[in-house]
Amino acid sequence: MSAAIVTGGSRGIGRGIVLALANAGHDVVINYAANQTAAEEVAAEVEKTGAKAAVVRADIADAADRERLVAAAYDALGPIDLLVNNAGVAPSVRADILEAGEESFDRLVGINLKGPYFLTQLVARRMIEHGTPGRIVTISSMSAYTASVNRGDYCVTKAGLSMMTKLFAARLAEHGITVFEIRPGIVATDMTGAVREKYDRLILEQGITPIRRWGRPDDVGRAVVAVAQGLFPFSTGQVIDVDGGFHLRTL
Ligand SMILES: NC(=O)c1ccc[n+]([C@@H]2O[C@H](COP(=O)([O-])OP(=O)(O)OC[C@H]3O[C@@H](n4cnc5c(N)ncnc54)[C@H](O)[C@@H]3O)[C@@H](O)[C@H]2O)c1
Repeated sequence: MSAAIVTGGSRGIGRGIVLALANAGHDVVINYAANQTAAEEVAAEVEKTGAKAAVVRADIADAADRERLVAAAYDALGPIDLLVNNAGVAPSVRADILEAGEESFDRLVGINLKGPYFLTQLVARRMIEHGTPGRIVTISSMSAYTASVNRGDYCVTKAGLSMMTKLFAARLAEHGITVFEIRPGIVATDMTGAVREKYDRLILEQGITPIRRWGRPDDVGRAVVAVAQGLFPFSTGQVIDVDGGFHLRTL
């Protein structure tokens, strides 16, 4: 039995990851930012599978909250052997990079990049202390390499997560800890709700993704399970695209 922390696990892709892990026999700490009821509903679904669940409210942009999250996770489930950095936000308003302000930039850097960076540091230290051969998975985005000039702040944070993955992979290999980046494409969640019609056209009519359908949270969940189950024993620092082939160049 293994134990995972999934940040932002109460809805969307995070919820899909939590449920996929539970169905594969992993106990899960579900971190959430605000919606306790939603987190508890996910926990109840986890428990139906026979796996254990714990819910912990924590703002991952906040250092004291990150410390509390990790302490609560170890108290609830014992040594953690999988961290999934999933929580993330899009800018509240999409704005051209010639206009966009610092407030949105700082918010996105805090939640999308600084939070996972220092949470990974905390959990990695604990894994080393406990001698756990752990795994760390970070959910970045195709925005790590795709320039969207109306949400540059988001793209910059996701590109930063790619380097973060390489850095921790290089540093933690000697401790038996492997590190992966999963890059989702366009996935149907609350985050993409506002642009659903635009993406319907791009995916279904124009074929922007060779596999012509929206991604589902469970598509990402299954990729995380493959890592969690140890199916990539000689890989680290690896990027796994879960994007219906969006990253391909075709001619
Ligand atoms: N939906 C997509 O098409 C898509 C594509 C690529 C990458 N992603 C990434 O996948 C991840 C999940 O996105 P989603 O589509 O499920 O979005 P979502 O908005 O449905 O869920 C985001 C989750 O993160 C949590 N969260 C936000 N700020 C937080 C904070 N400060 N502390 C703790 N938790 C916080 C939210 O409460 C929520 O549970 C994000 O990192 C997102 O950037 C999404």
